[in-house]
Amino acid sequence: MGKLQNKVALITGGASGIGAATARLFASEGAKLVLVDLNEEKGKEVEAELKANNAEAIFVKTNITKEEEVTALFKQAAETFGKIDIVFNNAGIGRVHPTHDLDYAEWRNTVNVDLDGVFLVAREALRSMLVNGSGSIVNTASMYGWVGSPGSAAYNAAKGGVVNLTRSLALEYAEKNIRINALCPGFIDTPIIPEDDKVVLSTMTPMKRLGKAEEMAKAVLFLASDDSSYMTGNSLIVDGGYTAQ
Ligand SMILES: NC(=O)c1ccc[n+]([C@@H]2O[C@H](COP(=O)([O-])OP(=O)(O)OC[C@H]3O[C@@H](n4cnc5c(N)ncnc54)[C@H](O)[C@@H]3O)[C@@H](O)[C@H]2O)c1
Repeated sequence: MGKLQNKVALITGGASGIGAATARLFASEGAKLVLVDLNEEKGKEVEAELKANNAEAIFVKTNITKEEEVTALFKQAAETFGKIDIVFNNAGIGRVHPTHDLDYAEWRNTVNVDLDGVFLVAREALRSMLVNGSGSIVNTASMYGWVGSPGSAAYNAAKGGVVNLTRSLALEYAEKNIRINALCPGFIDTPIIPEDDKVVLSTMTPMKRLGKAEEMAKAVLFLASDDSSYMTGNSLIVDGGYTAQ
């Protein structure tokens, strides 16, 4: 029996990269999937692939920064599968930009997706899990929620916010049988990383390579499943040694 047999998992950013790899792994462990993304074309592709492999899956196009869309998403998910056990709160954006040149609109947009969107999805997840009496939420932060880097002020501030949001929610809901942890990836080979940056980012990493989305998915499975049943408020750094430097 799979580790997520009879579990319903909702994954934001499920159309690509870490989210899509996690959806594949979760499905192979028996979960029913609610895939969430802005990118409808890629989201439907992942949905079709999972279904072709006999998984139950739906794709729901949602912008995680729109409160009413997030509410409608959880309503549709509950109507389809009856409950939500796991939420992988993972959708995000990031761009490198010198701070003295950073438009306020770009700052707002980054913080809006990477922090406000995470809050909106977590809040709706908590409402649903409180009714259910249990749940596990995994927020995607970043190693840049722990250490700084030049040119990513908005992203790093938002990801640092996700790390402490995770701790705060964990304490608030620890007695309610809802665990909240975070994944903090290093440089992972997904479409968020520009092709031209891959060699230099590999060089900056002690293990001298980028991580794979599948390597993140294994850590998410650990955090989402009962394998981590005594963990809450934790931020698991999976970064090829970057933050050990
Ligand atoms: N790849 C890395 O090196 C790395 C490192 C640290 C953290 N992360 C984080 O991992 C998460 C997943 O990123 P990834 O590497 O898989 O990149 P990705 O670009 O492959 O996937 C991100 C997905 O999020 C979706 N998305 C963006 N804004 C959205 C919104 N407003 N509403 C709904 N969906 C939205 C995108 O359409 C995309 O499919 C992000 O939070 C990212 O910040 C990635």
